[in-house]
Amino acid sequence: MPGVVYLNGEFLPRERATLSVDDRGFIFGDGIYEVTRVVNGRLFEPDRHMRRLQYCLRGIGIDPRMTPEQIIDIHYRLIRENDLTTGEATVYLQITRGAAPRTHYFPPAATAPTVFLSASPFTRNVAHREQGATAVTYPDIRWSRCDLKTVNLLGAVLAKQHAVAAGSLEAVFIRDGVITEGSHTNVFGVIDGELRTYPKSNYILGGITRDVVLELAAEQGVTVRERPILQQEIGRLDELFVTGTTTDITPLVQLDGRPVGPGTPGRITRLLAAALERRLYATAPATSPALAGAR
Ligand code: PDD
Repeated sequence: MPGVVYLNGEFLPRERATLSVDDRGFIFGDGIYEVTRVVNGRLFEPDRHMRRLQYCLRGIGIDPRMTPEQIIDIHYRLIRENDLTTGEATVYLQITRGAAPRTHYFPPAATAPTVFLSASPFTRNVAHREQGATAVTYPDIRWSRCDLKTVNLLGAVLAKQHAVAAGSLEAVFIRDGVITEGSHTNVFGVIDGELRTYPKSNYILGGITRDVVLELAAEQGVTVRERPILQQEIGRLDELFVTGTTTDITPLVQLDGRPVGPGTPGRITRLLAAALERRLYATAPATSPALAGAR
């Protein structure tokens, strides 16, 4: 993977970016991350991503020693340095508690956090978005702070691998008899004409796409209930879809080998997917001075 990345104050070629073996991200998974979509050089919902980033940093007690504006400027500089000002891309950001001798408790306050960002071209899967994809259920074996976007992703990795081995796109987590979310997506269903999704809590990640979809549903006059879909209700689902930064709205037309509704993307799913596309591909000019300077 070529390109210029950002590591601890420096922009440098990816192959020259190296980390300490004592980094707490490596040793403990002690860090958080973000993934932000870029369309024609413009970040999608950067303010929301920065608010969630700050919530997560505060949640695990890491001070990044930079402002959200500085972090956004690094995003835009990477977009420019990697020639990603047209087409689609994603920016990955990771902040860990830094490198220090291994102790379970926090290292001395003077320990600098590790800040890493990288930008990559992105190609969306049009077939999945238009025709739908399949998913399988999987027990939600994750911890109970899923609202924090930590790099501790083993539960998600095992779930997604199970889905891939089953020839599916996504694993849908079940906790205490209800659908919580997907391995890297939020899950929405339609039952009796109402859009249902798990309420924001410590058991799901508050997805940026989820927030946007809830706004779009209100604009489109779709009735929304932020109430879990029970496992027993799966057979009654007329529609099911997942949302995420790299997934947009992707219809799920089959769950555990059984069709959802008629087995094709439903009306509400298509309505919201079209509205999300309009929002994503809106031709608003880039707002960052960093990017404006590059154009
Ligand atoms: N995943 N739920 C989980 C568990 C996630 O990991 C993600 C995002 C989402 C959707 O959030 P958003 O709409 O903000 O992307 C929900 C990212 C994209 C990832 O791990 O790559």
